[in-house]
Amino acid sequence: MTDGYYSSKKTDDICEDVCGQASRVGLTMSRLRCMLRGFDLKTLFFVFVFIPVFIFGIYLHGQKISYFLRPLWESPPKPFIKIPHYYHENVTMERLCKLHGWGIRESPRRVFDAVLFSTEEDILTIRWKELYPFITQFVLLESNSTFTGLPKPLFFASNRHKFKFVEPRLTYGMIGGRFKKGENPFVEEAYQRVALDQLLRIAGIEDDDLLIMSDVDEIPSAHTINLLRWCDDIPSILHLQLRNYLYSFEYFVDNNSWRASVHQYKRGKTRYAHYRQTDLLFSDAGWHCSFCFRHIRDFIFKMKAYSHYDRVRFSHYLNPKRIQDVICKGADLFDMLPEEYTFKEIIGKMGPVPHSYSAVHLPAYLLNNSEKYKYLLPGNCKREGG
Ligand SMILES: *[C@@H]1O[C@H](CO)[C@@H](O)[C@H](O)[C@H]1NC(C)=O
Ligand SMILES: *[C@@H]1O[C@H](CO)[C@@H](O)[C@H](O)[C@H]1NC(C)=O
Ligand SMILES: *[C@@H]1O[C@H](CO)[C@@H](O)[C@H](O)[C@H]1NC(C)=O
Ligand SMILES: *[C@@H]1O[C@H](CO)[C@@H](O)[C@H](O)[C@H]1NC(C)=O
Repeated sequence: MTDGYYSSKKTDDICEDVCGQASRVGLTMSRLRCMLRGFDLKTLFFVFVFIPVFIFGIYLHGQKISYFLRPLWESPPKPFIKIPHYYHENVTMERLCKLHGWGIRESPRRVFDAVLFSTEEDILTIRWKELYPFITQFVLLESNSTFTGLPKPLFFASNRHKFKFVEPRLTYGMIGGRFKKGENPFVEEAYQRVALDQLLRIAGIEDDDLLIMSDVDEIPSAHTINLLRWCDDIPSILHLQLRNYLYSFEYFVDNNSWRASVHQYKRGKTRYAHYRQTDLLFSDAGWHCSFCFRHIRDFIFKMKAYSHYDRVRFSHYLNPKRIQDVICKGADLFDMLPEEYTFKEIIGKMGPVPHSYSAVHLPAYLLNNSEKYKYLLPGNCKREGG
């Protein structure tokens, strides 16, 4: 600041020295010319340097600017009503239900777990192993199209032999993509979710059965599902509050994942959805691990196939070396600001996600098979190439 002040002062002095030598008569004129000259330089600077730099800045960071100003144009959604969650392995189910104000049933409800599958094979294994003891039918639908209309191999069909352990409880469905060019990705997504409703009926879901609606990477903890299937008078729809992780369980982001939900199925009424369906949120009910992939190529595929595909603004975002660096730093793949509703939260979350060294209370299958899933545990950010 001081530097700038002194140098502009200096320029004034020089102008005074040079122009000040004019005759008394021409003084006013040359003053004016002097001012104009100064003005011209400033104008030229403004037009040819400042404006281009400004426009280039907007081009590079426009998204950040609009995200940062989000609190000004968007108010936060209505807060959830948080339901306390009680659990300890040594407390009886009757007592646990009572702690929540619920009764206990004579036999547990049947539970259906339904997902739309894309590529996340490892996370699917961890999810199904976690929930296996309590699930009546696993329902999986995959398409040969991504939400953005790119052709996609049938990853599940070609790896089905790796999931022998669920085979007796599996209802698998495949749906052909519509491949409509330039369409909003949410339309293809909605189309696939409607197909999932039909697949659920094929799987034999009936009134009062529990239905888990969530993405593959939103994993309810086993004890949460066990509690909900045993207790009576639970709310008919509950969102699940999950711990958000990014890239692996090394990067704990926050406790704010809420999209997963559990429904008491009602024929003709229950529709498979991934948006807010009630105000009730059941606390501390599992994990949401976003972009938790084994290979760099899975990151590239997901970035292209993602519903918000407009986020890949520059092709260098897809450079494997950059992606590896971003993962090890806990930075953002799309170089964006956190999507929050208050300046306090935006500023608090700016910069990389800090490393976490806690691997306490993670899915049991992950810890039982830590060698195979090493990349998901703290201290192992390096991914396999390709
Ligand atoms: C839980 O119960 C088992 C078996 O009764 C007992 O050995 C163990 O000490 C208990 N754990 C805690 C933390 O109370
Ligand atoms: C997608 O699947 C449908 C239905 O099986 C098929 O007709 C279509 O040719 C497939 N498209 C691609 C690109 O694989
Ligand atoms: C998330 O929840 C856990 C326990 O439910 C708590 O220990 C932790 O402090 C919470 N973290 C944040 C960032 O809110
Ligand atoms: C983890 O390993 C223990 C001991 O082998 C086993 O009893 C338990 O069922 C396993 N849990 C999962 C989810 O794999």
